[in-house]
Amino acid sequence: MKEIEVVAAVIRREGRIFATQRGYGEWKDWWEFPGGKMEADETPEEALRREIREELSAEIGVDRLLCTVEWDYTAFHLTMHCYLCTLLGDSLHLNEHEAARWLSPTELDSVRWLPADVQVIEQLKNKGGMYIAFAPLQGYTDAVYRRAHHECVGGVDEYYTPFVRIEHGEVRRKELRDTDPERNAGVPTVPQVIAKDGDEFARLCDALQGQGWRRIDLNMGCPFPMQVKAGRGSGLLQHPEHVEEIVREMERRPEVVFSVKMRSGQEREDEGLTVMPLINEMPLVHVTLHPRLGRQQYKGVADREAFQRFMEVCRHPMVYNGDIGLTPHPPLLGREGEPTPLKGVMIGRGLLARPWMLSDKEPQEVITSMHDRIYRHAVENLCGDSQILARLHAFWEYLDIPHKQQKAIMKATTLPHYREAVAAVIRGL
Ligand SMILES: Cc1cc2nc3c(=O)[nH]c(=O)nc-3n(C[C@H](O)[C@H](O)[C@H](O)COP(=O)(O)O)c2cc1C
Repeated sequence: MKEIEVVAAVIRREGRIFATQRGYGEWKDWWEFPGGKMEADETPEEALRREIREELSAEIGVDRLLCTVEWDYTAFHLTMHCYLCTLLGDSLHLNEHEAARWLSPTELDSVRWLPADVQVIEQLKNKGGMYIAFAPLQGYTDAVYRRAHHECVGGVDEYYTPFVRIEHGEVRRKELRDTDPERNAGVPTVPQVIAKDGDEFARLCDALQGQGWRRIDLNMGCPFPMQVKAGRGSGLLQHPEHVEEIVREMERRPEVVFSVKMRSGQEREDEGLTVMPLINEMPLVHVTLHPRLGRQQYKGVADREAFQRFMEVCRHPMVYNGDIGLTPHPPLLGREGEPTPLKGVMIGRGLLARPWMLSDKEPQEVITSMHDRIYRHAVENLCGDSQILARLHAFWEYLDIPHKQQKAIMKATTLPHYREAVAAVIRGL
């Protein structure tokens, strides 16, 4: 039987997905995901971006593979690689299709899908089409960790780097090494900056754009007292005049796709709400909100009602962050099946504890393969057992394994002892 291989785009916006109605041929009037055949020299991502430009005059970001569907039509066998995508910009024009709709989760069955596309709908219902980000965690999620997770587990749309900052008047070199595009090649990465005003922000953007980045996240949530006192992180929420300078800097850089990660305030929620009109002015792909106050640091519970209040006044798509996966039964964000205006979630400590969380893989397999990579990198690039062990300890610190086993690993002061302890832990999983 003839074989045809195609790529399809599941474009998401504010919890809805984009469906198109075919305007020609045997399957005229049936609904499908836009896309088409790959050309010989194209990657699937390149093919998708080209197809969407041709069919819809739109630009998309290709986030991650959702599924590959195999389907026998009467005349041919179809292999369809379906990617979750984000629309960049507002332009969208139907060049080939006769109609299109943005479907909410409850409307997925309301159109007549092509048989192969029905499989995609089932996937969307099972796994959801939500945007999932790995939160930045300074000291834990460096480029080596992010790559290990991406290659051994996956399931994450974007990995955020810990913030890049200015210290003693210079952009920190160590942090720029972590955002070096070569180190992050093939891993969907968003570099993050922390800045107190327009000037610092501009210099950090220059440094990252100089490395080739066209996607930057701004930290408005770091609660560390030193940063807050200097007016950075959640401290920036108390300085609308500086936020305004940053808005103007963003407007000067239309080539960059920006996002913001914020707390609900430093001392009080109205600080966050007061700067919302300025954040609304920013050209952003989304706002991630961790609904705690900066002064709470990580204490107390993340306030989901506060998140709702911000959702009411934020004109950008929103991403929820805070305590997901930290309890055995994570509280649901909305009732299952109900449409949600949420773009997605960002997960930090929950993923450090259970990096296998978003996959069907077993903990043992994930821990072994991620650790192998992180271990190899540490041994090849760091000097002396104590430096190597310090790096490796960070991998185990949050990991969800019995306390006794974790202690045995942390106690090891030489590499041979460490390896023994790790082997015993992995055997026992
Ligand atoms: C040790 C540590 C380091 C962090 N470093 C960063 C950082 O560099 N940038 C940032 O935006 N947030 C940072 N955060 C905050 C997390 O990204 C996240 O917002 C927070 O942990 C809440 O999400 P979670 O409950 O899913 O972990 C850090 C948090 C911790 C615990």
